[in-house]
Amino acid sequence: MTTTTPVLQVRDLRVDIGERTVLQSVSLDVQPGSLVVLMGANGSGKSTLGMALAGHPLYNIVHGQALLGTDNPVDLVQLPAHERARAGFFLSFQSPPDIPGVKNNLFIRTALNAVRESRGEEPLDAFDFLSSAKQGAKELGMPAAMLSRPVNEGFSGGERKRNELLQLTLLKPRIALLDEIDSGLDVDGVRAVVELVQRMRAQGTAFIVVSHYLQMIESLQPDQVLRLDQGRIAETGTLELARSIAETGFARANA
Ligand SMILES: Nc1ncnc2c1ncn2[C@@H]1O[C@H](COP(=O)(O)OP(=O)(O)OP(=O)(O)O)[C@@H](O)[C@H]1O
Ligand SMILES: [Mg+2]
Repeated sequence: MTTTTPVLQVRDLRVDIGERTVLQSVSLDVQPGSLVVLMGANGSGKSTLGMALAGHPLYNIVHGQALLGTDNPVDLVQLPAHERARAGFFLSFQSPPDIPGVKNNLFIRTALNAVRESRGEEPLDAFDFLSSAKQGAKELGMPAAMLSRPVNEGFSGGERKRNELLQLTLLKPRIALLDEIDSGLDVDGVRAVVELVQRMRAQGTAFIVVSHYLQMIESLQPDQVLRLDQGRIAETGTLELARSIAETGFARANA
């Protein structure tokens, strides 16, 4: 991997939830177009990192920075949640929530036009949006009818994950954190993730992928594998690290 300026630099990030410190001091760099796999035992704080970077109000960033961008980096920590998304950060939720009463196509078009505006691009009208959304849905094996339903309401587990992928493909972020995207997806869905990630990496999008699923991790060809433990990046490696975790488990790795 050639070293350039990272698209994301997380520095000494501490995150508290209520009284409890979940992340003590997390630091990591992600290069443009690269893919970092984040592993860690249940409850080690992987989702906490995603939620904190996205700006969820429950996740209190006590100190640290998260610099996004190569030319004039902005510190995500200083921005409200919607500005983080406009700056090019995307989080795919481990458990995507429902938004009753809000139609999926209107939700995604509103988000897309907000990020397009921040990139200096023209907004898409309903017609143009629908044709690209339908195309994206088709590639992800999502029936177009799901675009006119309320966001995630009554969606199955796998349909929710596909809907996250649809947002990813349309929003074209600089960096995406995919939190257990594979959970709930069938084999075709996992294949669609791998293909989409490869295509987007070739266009410069970087990824942090949280997963417990070795087969998908291997298919994703990560540049780096990190292990989170005790609120810090405890180990940094390559695919070999993911393989050894799969073999020995987290409990033994910590012993
Ligand atoms: N909203 C919350 N309120 C209280 N505690 C929380 C909340 N969110 C997370 N936590 C706690 O913070 C810790 C880290 O949780 P987190 O969801 O980040 O773990 P994770 O590494 O993503 O685990 P998993 O592999 O199971 O998804 C856990 O002990 C969890 O119970
Ligand atoms: Mg999690």
